[in-house]
Amino acid sequence: MFFKNLFKIMLLSCLPLTSTLSANDSLLIGSAVTPLNLTNGTRPLLTQAIKDHCTLLVATNDMKFYFIHPKKGVYDFTKSDLLMSFAVANDMKVRGHTLAWGQQVPDWVKNGNYTSLELEQILVDHITTVIKHFATNYPGVVICWDVVNEAYNIEDKYQKEQAKLIAQGLDPTDPANIKCPRPIWSKIGQYDANNQPIATWDPLRDYVRVAFHAARQADPDIQLFYNDYSNEGTGSSTLEVYNFVKDLKEEGLPIDGIGMQCHLRLGCYSSKYTDIVKNTMQKYADLGMIIHVTELDVSIPTTDSLGYCPTNSNDLITQANIFAGVATACLQTPACKALVFWGISYRDAKLPTTVPGFGAANPFDQYYVGTPAYNSLVSVLGVHWGKH
Ligand code: G3I
Repeated sequence: MFFKNLFKIMLLSCLPLTSTLSANDSLLIGSAVTPLNLTNGTRPLLTQAIKDHCTLLVATNDMKFYFIHPKKGVYDFTKSDLLMSFAVANDMKVRGHTLAWGQQVPDWVKNGNYTSLELEQILVDHITTVIKHFATNYPGVVICWDVVNEAYNIEDKYQKEQAKLIAQGLDPTDPANIKCPRPIWSKIGQYDANNQPIATWDPLRDYVRVAFHAARQADPDIQLFYNDYSNEGTGSSTLEVYNFVKDLKEEGLPIDGIGMQCHLRLGCYSSKYTDIVKNTMQKYADLGMIIHVTELDVSIPTTDSLGYCPTNSNDLITQANIFAGVATACLQTPACKALVFWGISYRDAKLPTTVPGFGAANPFDQYYVGTPAYNSLVSVLGVHWGKH
C-alpha cells in the first residue's frame, strides 16, 4: 500500500500543473518566487518546478518599495530584472507586487519627516517610475500591479488598537503603545501647502486614491489591483473590504481587479467553503472586476522550526480540500483569471516564523514532491495545469 501511494505521488508530481487548456483557459497559475533563487543555478528543483507548473510569477519581496527604491532617488531593478528575463525566456507573465503598502517601506521614507505633499510626491514618483520601467523594458510581461496592499485591514487593525488603548487608559498617540501603526502613506492629504490641517483628510482613502490615479496615469492599459487578506471567506472583513472597494470603484477610481491573498489555515474548512469563496468572487465580478487569488497558502501545524514536518497527516487531507476548494471557486468563476501560490514548495514559503508552529503550507514539500494538496489541485485543475 505504501509503495502504491508513493508511486501515485511520484507519478502525479510529474504532471505539470498547467497541462492542456479548456473551459477557463485564460486561467494563469503561478507562484511567488525569489528571483535569485530561480536564476542563479543553486536551486534546480525549484527552477524546474516553476517551469513545469507556472505561467505567472510574483516577486516575494524584490518589487516592493524597500528593495526597488532603497534610497532617495536610487532605484535598484537588478533582481526584478532577473525575474523579467526569466519570465520572458519561459513565456510567463508577472504580477507586480506591490506599490503602496504599510510594510517594507525604507527608512529614508519612514524617518524623512516629510510633509503630506512631499510624501504624496514620493509615492507618485515611485509608482510612475516603477510601472514605466517594466512597461517600457518588458512590454506585456507585467500584466497587473497590486497598486495598494492591505490598506483596509491595516487601518481596521489600527482603529481597533486605538479603541483598546483608550479603553485601557493608555495614551493612544504614544508610539510605544502602538503595535499596529498606520502606513506612512496615510499622512497624505493631512496638511496643505501652508501646513494647515485639511478638514476632509481621510487617512485610509486619500493615499489609495493618489496611488491608483498615479498608476493609471503611468500606464493607461495595465490592470490595477487592490490586494488584501481575509477578504474571501466568512469573516466580517470580507464584506467590509468589498464595500470599501465598491465605494471607491463607484466614485470612479480606476480599480480593475481584486486580489484575494488567501493565506489560510485549517479552521476555514467547511463543506460550504467553495460556495462561500465563489459567492465573494461573483460579487466582485458583478462590479465588473477581475479576480486573482494572489497568495494562496494553507498553513498546518508542524513540529519543526523550518515548518517542513506536519504534526498530523490528517491535516494534509484537510489542507488538500481547502486548496481544492479555492481552486474550484476560481475555476467556476469566469472573472477569476489567476491562481497564485505564496511559494510553490515548503522551501519557498513565507518566513516560517510568521506563524510559529505552523508551516507546510504549499503544494510541494521541501523535496519538490507533490503533497496531497498538489494531488487535489491536479484533480480540480487537471487539464488546466499545463501550459501549452
Ligand atoms: O533581505 C533583507 C535584508 O536586507 C534586511 O536588512 C533584513 C532585515 O529586515 O532582512 C531581509 O528582509 C526580510 C525580507 O522578507 C526578505 O527576505 C524581512 O526581514 C522580512 O520581514 C521579509 O518578510 C516578507 C514579508 O512579506 C514582509 O512583511 C516575507 O518574505 C514575504 O513573504 C511577505 O509577503 C507578504 C506579502 O507581500 C503581502 N501579504 C502577506 C505576505 C506574507 O506575509
